[in-house]
Amino acid sequence: MSTTADKLNQLEEKTAQVLAQGGPKAVEKQHAKDKKTARERIELLLDEGTFTEVDRFVTHRCSNFGMESKVIPADGVVTGYGKVDGRLVFVYAQDFTAQGGSLGEMHAAKICKVMDMALQAGAPVVGLNDSGGARIQEAVDALSGYGQIFYRNSLASGHIPQISVIMGPCAGGAVYSPALTDFILMVEKESQMFITGPAVIASTTGEEVTAEELGGADTHTTVSGVAHLSASSEEEVMEQVRAILSYLPSNADEKPPVLPYEKGDESRPALDTVIPDASNMPYDMLDVIEQIADEGTFFQTQPYFADNIITGFGRVGGRSVGFIANQPFVMGGSLDVNASDKAARFIQCCDAFNVPLINLVDVPGFLPGVDQEHSGIIRHGAKLLYVYSVAEVPKITVVLRKAYGGSYLAMCSKDLGADHVYAWPTAEIAVMGAAGAANIIFSKEIKAAEDPAAARAQKIQEYSDRFATPYVAAERGFVDMVIQPSQTRAQIMEALEVLQNKKREGRVRGNMPL
Ligand code: HXC
Repeated sequence: MSTTADKLNQLEEKTAQVLAQGGPKAVEKQHAKDKKTARERIELLLDEGTFTEVDRFVTHRCSNFGMESKVIPADGVVTGYGKVDGRLVFVYAQDFTAQGGSLGEMHAAKICKVMDMALQAGAPVVGLNDSGGARIQEAVDALSGYGQIFYRNSLASGHIPQISVIMGPCAGGAVYSPALTDFILMVEKESQMFITGPAVIASTTGEEVTAEELGGADTHTTVSGVAHLSASSEEEVMEQVRAILSYLPSNADEKPPVLPYEKGDESRPALDTVIPDASNMPYDMLDVIEQIADEGTFFQTQPYFADNIITGFGRVGGRSVGFIANQPFVMGGSLDVNASDKAARFIQCCDAFNVPLINLVDVPGFLPGVDQEHSGIIRHGAKLLYVYSVAEVPKITVVLRKAYGGSYLAMCSKDLGADHVYAWPTAEIAVMGAAGAANIIFSKEIKAAEDPAAARAQKIQEYSDRFATPYVAAERGFVDMVIQPSQTRAQIMEALEVLQNKKREGRVRGNMPL
C-alpha cells in the first residue's frame, strides 16, 4: 500500500515529467532554432510569477498507429491564466517539442477550456501558436478539435479580446483560428502561415515558392494583410501583445483603462504649418498623429499593409483611442480595396471594445481604375460606410484638407453618425476636386472661350473659392466648428470628455474578419 509520502512523490514525478516538455533533446532542438519553449514563452508574456496552469495532466486517448504507448506531455499545449500589467489574461502555448505541437482531441479540448474560462471571466485570450497542425494519427477527432476552436473564436469575437501570436508553423485549416481573432502577430523568420504549403503548390500549380516567401511575416504584414504586426524576436512580439492589451478593456462590457493625465498647454503650434500651400503636395499624416496623441503613445497596427490609410491605438489625455487617418504620402491618401478592409476591421474592433474613434481626413476619393472596380471597390468600400455607421463608440472627425465625394462620407462624416466634426481652415469639402469639377460644369464655357486655358484656370479658381473650403459644410452644420490646427488636440480632448458617457444601444457585435 502506498503511503502519503509516496503519493506526494508521485505528484512530483508526474509534474517533473510534464514540465520536461518533449524531453531534453527536443528542447535543445527548439533552442537551436532560436525558439523558446511553450513554458518559456508564457513566462515572457505574463507578469513574473503570475502563471497558473490548467489541465497539466491531460493526455490523449488515441490508439491509432502505436499512439497508445506515446506519451505527449500536457498533450502538446500548455494552458492557463496569469496577469499582464496586473490584469487577468488567459493563455495557451503550443509546445512544438511534444509531438510537434500537433493538435489532437485533448489538445483542442484544453484550448477550448481556457477559451470558455476566459469568456466566463471576461478576460482576453492570447494564443501562442507553434504546431505541425492536425495530429495526423487522430484523424477526424483532430479536425473536430479545430472546429470547436473556430466555433469559440467566433462566439467570443467582440466579447473578449483575442490575440494570436504565430511562433512556428501554422498551416492548413489551422490558420483559421488566428484569422478569426482580433490581432495576428508574427515573429520574423520563425513563423509561417499558409493554407497549402510550397510542396502542394508546386505539384498543383507548378509555382515554385519558399515557405518564407509564401507565408512568412514579411509577406503577411505587407502583401496579404493577414498579420497585423511582426517582430524580430520573441521578446519583442510579447511586448507588442502587452501593448495592444494596454489599450483594450478586458471585455466588451468594460471601458479601456484610463491612465492618469495632468492637463497642461495642449496647443500644438507645429500643426499650423503642416498643410502645404499647394493642394496636391503630400505631407506625413504620422506627424499629425504624433502631435495629437499623448507623447509616445501612438501604436500603429498594420503599418506596412495598405499604408494609404493609417490605423492604430493611442492615448489622448490618458484615454485610449483608435486613430484612422488617410496618408497623403501614399497614393495621395485615396481609398482602395485594401485600405477599406484594413480600416473597417480596425473600426469594428474599436467599436466592440469601447475605444473611441479619431478620424483624420485628407482623402481625394476612392482610387479610380479598372483594377479597383474589378477588385470590388464597391463591395470593400461599403464595409467602411457600414462599420462607421453602426459604430456606437464616440466618433470624432477632423477634416484637414481634401474630403471629396463618397470618400468624404466614408471617412465618418456627420451623416454617418460622427458625434463631433471639426475642420481646419485648409479643408476642402466638395463633391470633387476643383479642376475636375470645373471641367465638367463649365465645359461649354471653356470650349467657347477665346483662350480656353485661361478660361479653365479662371473657372477652377471660381469653383475653388466657392466650394474648396470648410465653410459651405460649416454653414449647413455638417462641420461643428472650423478650428485652428494647433487647437486640434485640445478640441479632441474636450470632445472625449463630453462623449465619455455616450450611451450605447447595447447591440453586441462581433469583430468579423473583413
Ligand atoms: C502528428 C506530427 C505532426 C502532425 C509534426 N509531428 N507534425 N505528429 N501530426 N501533424 C511530429 C513529428 O512526427 C515529429 O515526431 C515531431 O512532431 C517533430 O516534427 P519534425 O518533423 O521532426 O519537425 P521539423 O523537422 O521541424 O518539421 C516541422 C514540420 C513537419 C514542417 C511542421 O513536422 C511537418 O511537415 N509536419 C506535418 C505538417 C502537416 O502536414 N500537418 C497537417 C496539416 S493539415 P517525433 O516523434 O519524430 O519527434 C491540417 C488540417 C487542419 O493541419 C484542418 C483544420 C480544419
